[in-house]
Amino acid sequence: GLRIGSLLKDTGKVTYDPGFANTANASSAVTYIDGDEGILRYRGYPIEQLAEKSTFVEVSYLLIYGELPTQTQLDEFDARLRRHTIVHEDLRRFFQAFPLDAHPMPMVSAAINAMSTFYQDSLSVFDEEQIDLSTARLLAKMPTIAALAHRKNQGLPVVHPDNSLGLVENFLRVNFGFPSEPYEVDPLKAKALDQLFILHADHEQNCSTSTVRLVGSSQANLYQSIAAGINALSGPLHGGANSAVLEMLEGIKDSDDGAKKYMERVKNKEKGVRLMGFGHRVYKNYDPRAAIIKGTTHDLLEKFGGDDELLDLALSLEEIALADDYFVERRLYPNVDFYTGLIYKAMGFPTNMFTVLFAVGRLPGWIAQWREMIDDPETKIGRPRQIYTGATERGYVPMDERS
Ligand code: ACO
Repeated sequence: GLRIGSLLKDTGKVTYDPGFANTANASSAVTYIDGDEGILRYRGYPIEQLAEKSTFVEVSYLLIYGELPTQTQLDEFDARLRRHTIVHEDLRRFFQAFPLDAHPMPMVSAAINAMSTFYQDSLSVFDEEQIDLSTARLLAKMPTIAALAHRKNQGLPVVHPDNSLGLVENFLRVNFGFPSEPYEVDPLKAKALDQLFILHADHEQNCSTSTVRLVGSSQANLYQSIAAGINALSGPLHGGANSAVLEMLEGIKDSDDGAKKYMERVKNKEKGVRLMGFGHRVYKNYDPRAAIIKGTTHDLLEKFGGDDELLDLALSLEEIALADDYFVERRLYPNVDFYTGLIYKAMGFPTNMFTVLFAVGRLPGWIAQWREMIDDPETKIGRPRQIYTGATERGYVPMDERS
């Protein structure tokens, strides 16, 4: 067949495509999105079926290894993850050195980056066994690290993982349990969080995933590539939107303005005022993940004692938007972040942890895409071109001649 790589010669011509709106950076068999129809599939399986029937650990296996596991494969994978939940004591001590009120997101990316100093036996990007080992370490330790950041930020003592628990149950324990005490898992909470992680697990070439690929294309190791992805996720136009939505809702609730007035500000394009949790580069229809989450939000808030007033506000913002020409013409619909924050809050997570929860969910997708990139013989180092707009050549001006 045709080798795409051989076409990638310097032709002297460049395509200018800000935000890569029309540029594919990879060929990928992991995730399929049809943005006009609102379709999302992991490895061919519709997101609706996975959210209903699968588990986050199984979906992680599916994304990374390409097929649904047999029972034996799943048991082995799950057991391996349970064995790797503890982080090195010195890595844990990192968290003591951060400022008391440090935001959890940069703490998590710093700790994931630091894994490449603690686990130097799995840094090869060519050795399949080492890649499997760093894959297991990342999947198992990320929840522990996320909780360390949460506990530090809240000034709470560290709770160690209990490996008799599954990944999501353990995650609840290390976030909300007490040291040296058994943790009674609320199965409803665990199920809801598991489902949210499934919905976040991959989303093809979004900003953070393409960052992971770009960093990895230089053959930087998996830990460093993932740390870069976490940083890309933090911004409010990407994963940071989930906490920005809650701040927006609370801001509207606390002001006298109400939903209608806020929407006027959005439509007038006041600087920094957007309807957070709305709009998407690829979806020009209802985000299928948002549809699933919206369907369960009311029930979950009722069960966890969530803030109904904020939910009502979110519902009325959506109602206004879906009937308003500004949003209709631009095909702006709720995205995955619009309703998740309400659920996370009801579960007891502080707002600044929301994007970390997104990162825990997105991790298997980043890993799957990094592995696909490393395995692909067509991969080249990512190196975009530019349109130079600066000065033409000029001579150096001595200091005393500068005005
Ligand atoms: N509120 C108000 N107007 C919006 C919004 C919004 N949330 N989103 C887009 N628009 C408007 C833009 O102002 C622009 O209007 P114009 O044509 O008059 O200039 C038009 O819709 C197109 O928007 P762009 O910003 O060009 O679209 P882009 O694809 O670059 O951005 C993005 C997509 C970043 C998601 C954007 O919709 C946004 O900022 N949304 C709010 C933040 C958010 O929810 N991010 C999470 C995304 S999902 C995720 O990462 C999980």
